[in-house]
Amino acid sequence: MTLRHFLADDDLSPAEQEAVLDRALALKADPFSDRCLAGPQVVAVLFDKPTLRTLVSFATGIAHLGGQPLVVDGNLAQVGVRESIADVTRVLTRQAAAIVWRTFGQDRIVEMARYATVPVVNALTDDYHPCQVLADLLTIREHKGTLAGRTLAYLGDGANNMAHSYLLGGALAGMHVRVGTPAGYQPRSDILARAAAIAAGTGGSVEVTDDPVAAVTGADAVATDTWVSMGQEAESGARRGGGSPFAPYAVTPDLMASAPSAVFLHCLPAYRGSEVDAAVIDGPQSVVWDEAENRLHAQKAVLSFLLDRSGTRP
Ligand code: CP
Repeated sequence: MTLRHFLADDDLSPAEQEAVLDRALALKADPFSDRCLAGPQVVAVLFDKPTLRTLVSFATGIAHLGGQPLVVDGNLAQVGVRESIADVTRVLTRQAAAIVWRTFGQDRIVEMARYATVPVVNALTDDYHPCQVLADLLTIREHKGTLAGRTLAYLGDGANNMAHSYLLGGALAGMHVRVGTPAGYQPRSDILARAAAIAAGTGGSVEVTDDPVAAVTGADAVATDTWVSMGQEAESGARRGGGSPFAPYAVTPDLMASAPSAVFLHCLPAYRGSEVDAAVIDGPQSVVWDEAENRLHAQKAVLSFLLDRSGTRP
């Protein structure tokens, strides 16, 4: 058995992603059917950035699986400041069945995984938000029935973690992923290339455009995210204020009229009047509350899957 982590979306193969989504749907239908953390085993859940949904859904999910969440505030642990990532990991990995971390640089969680002897899960880094995109895919599958061949349009900052994870996760699912974003905010070229290579094998595709209408026309799902990601607060005036480069990419009822059968997704928290109009997020196409709930089911499935595949299920 090989120790498995979920640090980026493409740590799962296309078949594994589908299996995790199948497992998530089964767990949603029968929430206490998998007791892979019975004991209770502890899962360490560390946050170097603010959270609501991720904290609630991991804590709830770990309890459903028979385990005990151990939430560690990054201000207390000061990982990499008070002591090295390696030493923190050496402590956690002796006591926890898995480690979940929300942090800044992807290099930090990659470093943790290097020293861990239990699965490590990315609960958001500057580069990726893979648990969120699994929940989003689960939500699209619930509402549309299938993923492969469907079109997922993302509007906003094309260089943020959600854009990157939509590209990779959508490509793995065989979807056609369109990113509508202004010049200067394109996805990272290596991630775009990786997503294109994955899509070539799954029948999907990836496309980046600066035309928001072209991005959403005929889409099955339209997604956006805050224009000010965590860690970018100093830029909030330029990103969200008057003259924002993202203003043409705001998801309005007019824009949604080009995708009349699409569901609307937002990972939340949302800023009504900026990246999305209230009439959209609170309107009939919105599935954001299903999406928020699906974090729970998707993450339970990921934890269960990683413990199984790593041979570390207690
Ligand atoms: N979508 C998401 O990750 O929510 P939180 O930042 O509240 O955890």
